[in-house]
Amino acid sequence: MSEVIRFPEGFLWGAATSAHQVEGSPLADGAGPSIWHRFAHTPGLTANGDTGDVACDHYRRFPEDVALLADLGLNAYRFSISWSRVLPEGRGAVNPRGLAFYDRLVDALLARGIQPAITLYHWDLPAALDDRGGWLNPDIADWFADYARVVVRALDDRVHLWATLNEPWVVADGGYLHGALAPGHRNLFEPPLVTHNQLRAHGAGVQAYRAEGRHQVGIVLNLEPKHPASEDPRDVAATRRADAYMNRQYIEPVLRGTYPAELAEIFGPAWPAFPESDLALIRQPIDWLGINYYTRGVTRHDDGGGAMPPQASSVRQPHALYTETGWEVYPAGLAETLEWVWKQSGDLPLYVTENGAVFPDPLVAANGRVDDPLRVEYYRGHLKSALDALGRGVPLRGYFAWSLLDNFEWSHGYSKRFGLVHVDFATQRRTPKASARFYADVVRTRGAALFEPHPLVLPAMMP
Ligand code: BGC
Repeated sequence: MSEVIRFPEGFLWGAATSAHQVEGSPLADGAGPSIWHRFAHTPGLTANGDTGDVACDHYRRFPEDVALLADLGLNAYRFSISWSRVLPEGRGAVNPRGLAFYDRLVDALLARGIQPAITLYHWDLPAALDDRGGWLNPDIADWFADYARVVVRALDDRVHLWATLNEPWVVADGGYLHGALAPGHRNLFEPPLVTHNQLRAHGAGVQAYRAEGRHQVGIVLNLEPKHPASEDPRDVAATRRADAYMNRQYIEPVLRGTYPAELAEIFGPAWPAFPESDLALIRQPIDWLGINYYTRGVTRHDDGGGAMPPQASSVRQPHALYTETGWEVYPAGLAETLEWVWKQSGDLPLYVTENGAVFPDPLVAANGRVDDPLRVEYYRGHLKSALDALGRGVPLRGYFAWSLLDNFEWSHGYSKRFGLVHVDFATQRRTPKASARFYADVVRTRGAALFEPHPLVLPAMMP
């Protein structure tokens, strides 16, 4: 019998959240507003007019949430810092009461043996900085580095895993091209500048980290394999463009200091020439790379609708399962992505920093259960895929489920639930779903539970 591979000792098992999606109390204790506060308070921009004003009330209920992490047996928690809690104007005066919240959170985690993993920027730019042009203003690299210095100085004695940015592609594409996310711009000329300034901020943030911190700093990218919908050369070319746009636009400058050639083709006159010195700043040595993986894109040529970048779109697969956000469930893509990154990053430690799914969950049953078999199977499939990648030698050091809690899913408001733990937003009552129990079993058995049948799942549903 061949030896069964298990996740290694010392593997980080976590769940992730982000500040604006869970904390609530956005203006408490001297905090300044962020672009998400502004965006969600603009009528018509989020589902049901939902805002992050209360969210999961994590700002006040974090001890309960830390206890939940501990009950699930997790040894890591990835969360983000709200920039405008710490620096209400985005720069200048520090708000000690804002910083104190994260200090309490870190101590509460460590008291339960849970490693904090901090993301410095998860989309909630201080509104005051947006008034100065936000990510379009080149000065933002310095503003970000100054902010990073303040937070690292305060917490690096206890926090060992740091990320500069979360998913710069989503900020550029959702926030500045399609306008579905804050700050809600729709302008073909902005995304290249926004990407470039985010990456410069990343580079300057890593330098700030080296000056103040003594542990590990990296970045979190959302990556998805792009597969051609057909052998038609136009689909093959579209797939190459989609891959350059979403994946290589970020990983190449961060690891090698170059942008893919396709970007000039994709953006045409909107693609500027960037100075070499900027690329040298972007290509700072990092200690780890975070990968957020949700789905793949089966891609076809598409120049309709005003030829929006990257002149490609995704084709729905007739026999596949799709989540409520319209994402194909494709577990093999996680191993494919990890191996693809590994080929470029050598021995750099990799983490899956987000992976999870939204399906319509039932209400909490009278017996207190929330049965979410599709999410159980989503996690099973993807964790097996992570195990495959480990078996092939990928230096995968940890895995974070997205998300610990049902939360404020950006412009979807509270209508889309990604949590391992159900949140009743009227009462703030937390109820671990069946997927949380399943994940806890996987963690406890270092993967053995992935191969056990789950009582809720019909064999026909198993991938
Ligand atoms: C983001 C999360 C988001 C999740 C699900 C990721 O792109 O980092 O903030 O909630 O996807 O949409």
